[in-house]
Amino acid sequence: MTQHPPTVVVLHGGTPPPVMDRIEQIAAVRYATEPELPAALPGADVLFVWDFRSDAVAESFARADALRWVHAASAGVDRLLFPQLLESGVAVTNSRGVFDQPMAEYVLAAVLSFAKDLHTSVRLQDRKQWRHRETERIAGKHALIVGTGPIGRAIATQLSAAGLRVSGAGRVARDDDPDFGTVQASADLALGDVDYLVLAAPLTEQTHGLIDADALARCKPTARLINVGRGELVVQPDLVEALEAGRLGGAALDVFDTEPLPQDSPLWEMPNVLVSPHMSGDTAGWTEELVQLFRENLRSYAAGGPLRNVVDKQRGYVSGPGDAGGQTSGTERDR
Ligand code: GLV
Repeated sequence: MTQHPPTVVVLHGGTPPPVMDRIEQIAAVRYATEPELPAALPGADVLFVWDFRSDAVAESFARADALRWVHAASAGVDRLLFPQLLESGVAVTNSRGVFDQPMAEYVLAAVLSFAKDLHTSVRLQDRKQWRHRETERIAGKHALIVGTGPIGRAIATQLSAAGLRVSGAGRVARDDDPDFGTVQASADLALGDVDYLVLAAPLTEQTHGLIDADALARCKPTARLINVGRGELVVQPDLVEALEAGRLGGAALDVFDTEPLPQDSPLWEMPNVLVSPHMSGDTAGWTEELVQLFRENLRSYAAGGPLRNVVDKQRGYVSGPGDAGGQTSGTERDR
């Protein structure tokens, strides 16, 4: 509860967010790039992390002497889960909801691209080569979606509607999930009958390096990996090795362990790999939508009301649909 208009620091990567006049109407706003953050933090109530890839919050957190709340303009909050913030009373919220459907559409596009061999068609067209091939059906194919939060659920709905058989993997195994039916524990994935392995989990200690050489060896050689979560969910050198050896059918990768993907990465040139630059959820209007979502939360905060999308800092994600006032419900609708 604040008596005065809150002071908000906006951490950006050089280009501030759009439509910030909507925020400036209700708060005193300080804009900061990474090097400017330490000087901007003292006395600020709220930090709006626009540059969600930045490690600067951890580095300057000691300067945050009045901070009550950090809001991330992203779904993932992995860069905010450092010990000092975890142990503090500072609330963390994320942009849950903005990316769900766009990311689900991206995953469907990747599935269709593999099945219909569109990525090869584009490469052949570039060389004006007419080469007939047989393609695959997607109906009845099995997609295992790792991550049973709202993004994973939107992906499940989209892929089911397209005729795939879906199942999930999350923290807790169960067989009565409304969107996935069966959910297996992601700690020990059964991958033997999976055609599309879709990664949409938050990056936490438990999910870091989840898809390693062992997991890849349990996949069918025709399986495709689709990663829209975080690069570090996968041990990337193990993935490269599996692809090079023909032990995996292909990969659509929107996220990487190093971004931008370095020029010398073999992934760029693999014929069965689709590379996109961390954009699976970024459909036209997304930046305005992110600011609008922050604005709604800020209005509630300024009026002494509850915050939406409060992240359970121990788990690293929003753990229930009706989170309010820092309470998280820990229901089964988590990842
Ligand atoms: C983007 O990667 C996000 O976490 O929103």
